[in-house]
Order: sequence, then structure tokens, then C-alpha cells
Amino acid sequence: MTDRYCVFGNPISHSKSPTIHTAFAEQTGETIEYTAIAAPLDDFAGAWRRFTAEGGRGANVTVPFKEEAFQLCDTLSRRAQRAGAVNTLLLGMNGQTYGDTTDGIGLVRDLERHAVTLAGARLLVLGAGGAVRGVLEPLLAAKPASLFVANRTAEKAEALASDFRDLGAISGGGFDSISGPFDLVINGTSASLAGDLPPLPDDLFAGGATAYDMMYGAEPTVFLQWAGERGARGVDGLGMLVEQAAESFFQWRGKRPDTAPVLEMLRRSL
Ligand code: ATR
Repeated sequence: MTDRYCVFGNPISHSKSPTIHTAFAEQTGETIEYTAIAAPLDDFAGAWRRFTAEGGRGANVTVPFKEEAFQLCDTLSRRAQRAGAVNTLLLGMNGQTYGDTTDGIGLVRDLERHAVTLAGARLLVLGAGGAVRGVLEPLLAAKPASLFVANRTAEKAEALASDFRDLGAISGGGFDSISGPFDLVINGTSASLAGDLPPLPDDLFAGGATAYDMMYGAEPTVFLQWAGERGARGVDGLGMLVEQAAESFFQWRGKRPDTAPVLEMLRRSL
């Protein structure tokens, strides 16, 4: 029987994950089936149970199920424990469910691909929701000189930073306590979904700085436009999407796909 994988979300019809994983499978010669499944909002655990009963071996998990997926795991990677969320499920031979989160390592790999040096860099991360919590462990593991988390609700940024303080030089506060310049500014808020821009000081970027938006689209996001006007190089989150998928694929199949051609294909289709 062909090994089955899927992405769970709700809604899920616009997910690019089936296209990405099907391309990875063709490239690596793996025979898998990968589909998108809209899990019921009130029964994620049931959806995973049914999927595995029908031959499912693993899954990606997206909004709004990442925390529920975390809850049902028997074992978790260290980074998933830190994130409090999983985007990758794997059914072990013993029937146990293992959970990992590959978003943060996906972000770090995409930054590496763009030759952004994290070690010793001054980092600013905008936002303090689930998306940001999911990437802090791998960012801190890359040993930046400092990482400031800024959020509209300052208390959330302070609390988040204190959860990760044992891992590195991280602090948090409101947008009004941002004090640059920074070598890398990562937008992890959902503000750009609404076409909004967090209130940011004009002197945010050091020379040669990179602005990274975890969102992507056919056009540069409001944040990347703003950053470009202030001399920063802009990178959107499409590469992070492909890199997190590649890490999930590796967890499941033990093979590392070449992400560049898949990213190119997706970019053309935006
Ligand atoms: P996600 O899973 O995408 O992180 P979330 O947990 O709801 O979603 O978090 C959304 C983040 O975007 C939060 O940091 C939120 O700020 P608050 O904590 O103050 O709500 C931020 N955000 C959303 N809309 C925003 C806006 N218009 N301006 C600034 N920040 C915004």
C-alpha cells in the first residue's frame, strides 16, 4: 500500500503543501500520496485517528490545529516542546505519535540560503503570537548577539521572551521600546494580512540589513515595501514554506529534497 501523508487545516483548500510534497516525492523517487484534509474544528484528534487507521503515516498541521496536534502527541521534539505547537506528525512503528515543528528550522534554512548571518547579529522579531513562538528556539540556537521581540501588546512580548531567556540574549517589549539598528528584522505579525504596518521607527536598519516577512504573496507585503524604501533587502516567507516542508519530508522519508526548483515553481505560480 502507498504510504499516505496529508496536511490538516481548516480551511485548507488553498494549501500549497500537496504541490510541494508531490514535487519532493517525484524528485527523490519516493512513492507517496499527499492530500489536503479539512479536519472538523471540534475533533482534530478524531481526524488524525481516522487518517492513521486508513494507512496514514504522517501529516503536516496548519491553522488552527497546531496546538491540538501538540496535545495529542506521545513524544515531542525539543523544539516542539518549546513551541507548544507541532506542524509535523509522524506515526511510529509502535503506533505512537511523534510531533515536531519545522517552521523555525525552515526559517533559519531560508535565511542561510539568502546568506544572512545569524551568529552575532542584532535581531528584531515583530509579533508575539504562535507564529513567532514557533521560530524562537532555532533562531536563538544560531547565537545572535541579541534578539528583541516587539509586539502591539507589550506584555505578550515580555512573557514570550522570558519563556526563552535560558536559551540566549532575548528580551521583549512594545513597539515604543524598539531601539535599533538591527541586522535582521523578521515580521511575524499577521498585520500584513490586513494591509497594516506595525508602528516602526525610521532608523530600524543597520547598513546591509535584511527585512524578512513570514508572509508572502504575488506582490511584496506592506512591511517589505516599507523596509525597501529604507534601504533594507527584502525576503518574503515563500522560501520558509518550502524549507519547513523539506524538513517534514526528511522526518518522514529520510531524504532531503532539493528545495530550489520547487521554490522556483511556486514563485512562478503566485
Ligand atoms: P499567529 O499564529 O499568526 O502568530 P496570533 O497568535 O493570533 O497568530 O498572533 C498574531 C500576532 O500579530 C500578534 O503578535 C498580534 O499582536 P497582539 O498580540 O498585540 O494582538 C499581531 N498583530 C495582528 N494584527 C496586528 C496589527 N494590525 N498591528 C500590529 N500587530 C498585529
